[in-house]
Amino acid sequence: MCPGDGQPDTYTLRLFPISAGLHRSVSAGSRNHGRYSRYGPSPGERRTMASKAQIQTVKADFLDPSLYDDAGLSGVPRLSRGTILAALSRAFDLAEGRRPGHAQRVAYIGVFLASELGLEAQRVEDVFFGCLLHDIGMAASSQPPKMDGSRGSRIISGRSGAADVLSQVPPGGWTQVVAAIAQHCDLGSKIVRKMGFGEPVARAVASHHDCWDGSGRPGAQPGDRAPIVARIVALSDRVESMIDAEGSPLLVRRRGPALVKEMGGSEIDPELAGKMAEIAERDDFWLGFYDNDLPAALMSLNYGGMMNRDELFDFLGVMSDVVDGRNGREQGRGRRVAELARRVALTCDMTERRADLVRVAALLQDVGTLGVPAHFLSKPDILSVDEMASVQLHPVYARDILSEIPGLGAAAWWVGCHHERIDGKGYPGMLEGAEVPAEAQIIGMSEAFDALTSDRPYRRAMSQADAVEVMRGLAGTRFDPYLLARFESVAYPFEA
Ligand SMILES: [Fe+2]
Ligand SMILES: [Fe+2]
Ligand SMILES: [Fe+2]
Repeated sequence: MCPGDGQPDTYTLRLFPISAGLHRSVSAGSRNHGRYSRYGPSPGERRTMASKAQIQTVKADFLDPSLYDDAGLSGVPRLSRGTILAALSRAFDLAEGRRPGHAQRVAYIGVFLASELGLEAQRVEDVFFGCLLHDIGMAASSQPPKMDGSRGSRIISGRSGAADVLSQVPPGGWTQVVAAIAQHCDLGSKIVRKMGFGEPVARAVASHHDCWDGSGRPGAQPGDRAPIVARIVALSDRVESMIDAEGSPLLVRRRGPALVKEMGGSEIDPELAGKMAEIAERDDFWLGFYDNDLPAALMSLNYGGMMNRDELFDFLGVMSDVVDGRNGREQGRGRRVAELARRVALTCDMTERRADLVRVAALLQDVGTLGVPAHFLSKPDILSVDEMASVQLHPVYARDILSEIPGLGAAAWWVGCHHERIDGKGYPGMLEGAEVPAEAQIIGMSEAFDALTSDRPYRRAMSQADAVEVMRGLAGTRFDPYLLARFESVAYPFEA
């Protein structure tokens, strides 16, 4: 179903300064790298109903097995925190309403600057993670700021002065903006600690809206009292926002150095701004910034070290908690679903390694919901057609994001199919029968069972016995009867 005969290509990537010693040979990973996510949807597209032609295109993509590795042979790959977060940061961009790749570009700027400053290796890594995670607090909130998501951070962190700022905020909205900033900074730093990162990263996330002059967030300290990692992360976020606002690469190449310098003193550390302005005069910086292989280059740094199996599941468990938080679901629900899916996979005679990969896919199945407006996800009422179309894109976002991670091509495929039905009435690809991978069905069943036995905004939790009855009614339409029978043997009764 998912043959993958391609070996990783190796090539030399030149993205970082020679002085930093960061030239490296990297593995491009699976050949589907970057296939989708560089063409990620704009916020506008997210609200557009999928046309029949679009659905057929999606289906054609789904049915092209050459895009996916066969993971059954190799199981869960050894991955670093840096690789996973570089990919998942695209989900944080969606949650923030930013152009895909925002956090990755912030990380590129931060690592470039930190390397040029000659910071020790550990501090450069801290900068990298601080940059990738700076807005994870936005992604984890089930009640994201009411302000314009794409403009909110720019209001505070952009080059606009106080007068401009106030004129952009609706009457009475200022308090809300300030509260939203404080809230996501605080939540973000808590998540980062939970992920196992140290104080420098947590502090950088907590203070990424702080300004050099001590403004930006209630309780902000003047920049000269902030650690270097936090100052670099704050600068990198602002510089990326400035570049994004300028639009044209040619224009920003010409005006960038002066604009960066202008930001020094009030918003950002003037010394760092001077150094960044020098960097912005260099072609190698801009070539790397606009390089289509930037995501692969960041992943290949393997910052944070390779994780063993237990570390990987712990780490992905925290990510799953973030998604649960966003969806207003009880913490630990995603972990429970993933464990159930793993056990069902084993009962279906899959190998331990394949079952582990099913667990990985299940943990990350709903990471695409970060791209769906939070109030659609928790709406205690029937969704409108447009709202439903938006929700139905979440498997596509997740598939695109996960397909960036080397060795997770098959998991991406399964996640993309976890709402498909064997009668062809699922989404987003409307696959039929055997086109729907067994692993995707197992994930879908585990999720459905857990949803039925949990309280929802519009109904009370069912008993396990009632949930099994409901699912039996879906045999032959939503689920394959054989797989469903195997599922029942594990799921009822189920103790996580
Ligand atoms: Fe932020
Ligand atoms: Fe940002
Ligand atoms: Fe889902």
